[in-house]
Amino acid sequence: MAMQLRVYVPPHPLIKHWLGVARNATTPSPLFKSAIIELGRWLTYEAARDWLPTEDMVVHTPLAPCQATMVNPEVPLVVVPILRAGLGLLEGAQTLLPLASIYHLGLVRDEETLEASFYLNKLPQQFEPKTRVLITDPMLATGGTMMMAMSELSKRGVDPALTRIISVVAAPPALQKLGTQYPSLTIYTAMIDEELNSQGYILPGLGDAGDRLFGTEN
Ligand code: URA
Repeated sequence: MAMQLRVYVPPHPLIKHWLGVARNATTPSPLFKSAIIELGRWLTYEAARDWLPTEDMVVHTPLAPCQATMVNPEVPLVVVPILRAGLGLLEGAQTLLPLASIYHLGLVRDEETLEASFYLNKLPQQFEPKTRVLITDPMLATGGTMMMAMSELSKRGVDPALTRIISVVAAPPALQKLGTQYPSLTIYTAMIDEELNSQGYILPGLGDAGDRLFGTEN
């Protein structure tokens, strides 16, 4: 059977709440940051359901031996935040995945052509087989940045079927591009918005996530 991109919008009240806080233009930067961290935590929780590898074992309670299912520490877990704004989601993700290795990718978008290019790439030459990768980027807008990130990861041996993306708002152009090139990928997002404006910003979106996160708005 042909694979098709899976996009989940978890119907969770805390995800809806923190999305509302993040969307609100009057939310000050420190609270915006809290909202993105919380969204990182809850979206990671949802994404981990069918992704975190577990193993069955016997543990001994104070009274008797007992079957237990534990996270398998031998399967490599990686988080790739897309700078800058992916750092906020990373903070929430790390509370659930404290043992994951973090490899940073910095991409900047040319405001005229909307083309993305790398200014930082800390990925290793090759990932171990079966590595689980979680990519954090709050805004999937044109999809240019995420397509470049996926291409770099695939070149280094990452399997898109073992990759999860968490985003706060996703737009159809990004989902279309990713679905065509990486149909086995899975995305968790707080919302899918309708469209982009002429500068490639998501409408209604939440504005410039990096600026709002780091307090660098004018
Ligand atoms: N990046 C942002 O920060 N916001 C958007 O709406 C699109 C890309």
